[in-house]
Amino acid sequence: MDSTTIRHLQESVALLPVGDLAPVHEFYRRLFELAPEVRPMFTREMDLQARKFSDTLAWVISHLEHHDELCRELRELGARHAGYGVKIDQYAPVGSALIWMFQRTLGDRFTPEMEEAWLEFYAFASFEMERGSREVAPATTSP
Ligand code: HEM
Repeated sequence: MDSTTIRHLQESVALLPVGDLAPVHEFYRRLFELAPEVRPMFTREMDLQARKFSDTLAWVISHLEHHDELCRELRELGARHAGYGVKIDQYAPVGSALIWMFQRTLGDRFTPEMEEAWLEFYAFASFEMERGSREVAPATTSP
């Protein structure tokens, strides 16, 4: 990821309302609309889940320049997701819901360049997470 992409990601996150989980709740609402089959996989109280998701995303976005540490965390996160039963084809609706959350929350302030940056970031993050999930459960992810 180049420095312009990183800047677009960080600027878009900085525009989100501070300490407000409403956008993340909107993200989950959209995810469950796009992929209702994943709803039963979330057993935690959604306020707690929203906070964990938001904290993790904030950590990731603040570590974009620390490639090795970032990849290690994403792979560990992916490995845990394999344990939650997440399958590879369930990554796409999460990416769509994430971009939708920015569009809905930021409106015109979410520029096409920011959207491009999020598409690139999500492709990278889901690749690393899937890699982590394959490392932990090779037998269950092979055809
Ligand atoms: C950028 C991508 C993602 C991030 C940052 C993320 C973040 C998180 C975090 C922080 C947790 C809390 C537990 C933990 O830390 O292991 C979690 C749990 C979970 N995530 Fe994700 N996640 C992502 C992608 C996905 C995808 C693609 C799915 C597929 C549906 C998913 C489904 C779940 C489920 C089912 C749980 C467990 C909920 C529960 O036990 O109640 N996540 N996620």
